[in-house]
Amino acid sequence: MVSGRVEPKLVIHGGAGSSLKGKGGLEAVRKSLHQVLEVVYPLLKDGASAVEAVARGCQLLEDDPRFNAGTGSVLQSDGQIRMSASLMDGFTQSFSGVINVSRVQHPIELARFLQGSDDRVLSDFGALELLRELQLPIYDPITDLRLQEWMQERQGNFNKDMATVVAEPAGTGTIGVVALDVEGRLAAGTSTGGKGFERIGRVSDSAMPAGNYATGSAAVSCTGIGEHIMDECLAPRIAIRVTDGFSLKAAFERSFAEAHEHKRDFGAIAIDATGAIACGKTSEVLLAAFHNGMEMGDTLELSQGTLIFIA
Ligand code: GLY
Repeated sequence: MVSGRVEPKLVIHGGAGSSLKGKGGLEAVRKSLHQVLEVVYPLLKDGASAVEAVARGCQLLEDDPRFNAGTGSVLQSDGQIRMSASLMDGFTQSFSGVINVSRVQHPIELARFLQGSDDRVLSDFGALELLRELQLPIYDPITDLRLQEWMQERQGNFNKDMATVVAEPAGTGTIGVVALDVEGRLAAGTSTGGKGFERIGRVSDSAMPAGNYATGSAAVSCTGIGEHIMDECLAPRIAIRVTDGFSLKAAFERSFAEAHEHKRDFGAIAIDATGAIACGKTSEVLLAAFHNGMEMGDTLELSQGTLIFIA
């Protein structure tokens, strides 16, 4: 049981991948991320639960067309958008999610609804039925930029492993939020349009515990190549190490040393129950930002392979 008032903490990400392609991209991404912190951190301060803050943060990131989730999701090989999202409440240790859902503005909203359901992970058809049941409006998340990228890539016969954003600012992957609330509860949320150009039916790590996991001790959201995240089972690997007594720093150091050894391409953000914050990546860039109660910071200019810890 947790009780009393603790200093809330918040970490968010807008994906991982290759270079931001110049200062213009970097500053625009920084502004986007910091704006989300400025909206969501005060909610935590005012007593919002970690789950509420995570869901709100994910919605805001899903609404930003810069990031590959919700509006601005990348297109799959058949030119369709299929999004996945999950939410994990570390306090109740309950995971919920949706896989390959279309025509919804906020996939995280469906994941949040499913927290209270007996059936907590729904795939495409079931998620669509849920959307109807909840009477959520039909929404088309496609943007001109994503369509252009798909058309360009189609000419190249889809040679890329993963979508990249052609115009600045560049980024790939997902969005994610982890939070510690005033009651000391942790939660993690992750949402994605997937890798881009993938086979129909491919399932993203973002709707699996591998990519999004929380216990009473740590909350973790991952981004990067989903198959690499699944192979490492990254989010539970970190969270359970902390639950079993590792410090968050030691859990990140060990898990990322293994990731380097296995030549993985991804990043992760986390908070533990003491309020420690960690961000790590093997990828070139991790678009992450945090609020530690006193100030905001980000990882946009960290060199490849760097981990950061704030106790
Ligand atoms: N991490 C996002 C994906 O691979 O689908």
